[in-house]
Amino acid sequence: MPRKIIIDTDPGQDDAVAILLAFASPEFDVLGLTAVAGNVPLALTEKNTRKICELAGRSDARVFAGAVRPLIRPLVTAEYVHGKTGLDGPDLPEPTMPLQKQHAVDFLVETLMAQEAGTITLCTLGPLTNIALALIREPRIAPRIQRIVAMGGGFFEGGNTTPAAEFNIYVDPQAARVVFHSGIPITLIPLDCTHKALTSRARVEKFRRMTNRTGPIVAQLLDFFERFDERKYGTDGGPLHDPCVLAWLLKPELFSGRDCHVAIECESELTMGMTVVDWWGVTGKPPTAHVIKDVDSQGFFDLLSDRIARLP
Ligand code: BDR
Ligand code: CA
Repeated sequence: MPRKIIIDTDPGQDDAVAILLAFASPEFDVLGLTAVAGNVPLALTEKNTRKICELAGRSDARVFAGAVRPLIRPLVTAEYVHGKTGLDGPDLPEPTMPLQKQHAVDFLVETLMAQEAGTITLCTLGPLTNIALALIREPRIAPRIQRIVAMGGGFFEGGNTTPAAEFNIYVDPQAARVVFHSGIPITLIPLDCTHKALTSRARVEKFRRMTNRTGPIVAQLLDFFERFDERKYGTDGGPLHDPCVLAWLLKPELFSGRDCHVAIECESELTMGMTVVDWWGVTGKPPTAHVIKDVDSQGFFDLLSDRIARLP
């Protein structure tokens, strides 16, 4: 039986590749996609989500719009990384599939309450606003969620938005705190892992050479996306963050990490949004997340290219 997942996302080129990986994998039953404000404002992230569904030939998928801004702090976006549309690079047509009328938070609550408890995994690729709002609105969903697999945070690697904080957590630290205090099993995929999943030239060329429609478009998405990070980090290629979430569910053996207590900094402006990971167990506090530190990057790209090649 395929694993039932809901993807919460703020596309973003790397979100786009993650969504494509999900649709290309028969191991998943994508119940819906919930858009959140993040890389760009909500009006763009929900539209970008629909563009990607159509690219994957999945105009039957259900896309819901969620929160327009973080719980407390003003929205911070990242056009400097993803371009003005959030999905700069290829020229994708305007979507024709409709946006669902229901609010993303209502969809999350309704679906989690209706489906058998412990059968739904949430894949979160952006700020955690929608998930926090759903938990506040209906706390009974918490024990019904099988697991949250979240791209966010950074510990040994530091931050990418401030020296202390990674973008997804920095944008809505209070939402992240709600989620990390919920008791839901969490797998956290931080920069410590994703900075090893680099889109080298050779890897991007593999997508460009594919004979389907989607492969070359993935190459164009990555061409745009990696520009900023190559300059920033001086690497061959940029980190492909969000697809690691789906890849961990597909092939956990490619990843390694450990169970740790994770606290979210919400008080100090200097370190706002920092994920304080108790890697060495010095606090004696019980673990709240499985924190990933390493990935077999070649294995990850082999999996990704094998799957993307299956799309239209
Ligand atoms: C995260 O921030 C966004 O820019 C990416 O889509 C990813 O989810 C990486 O810090
Ligand atoms: Ca994202």
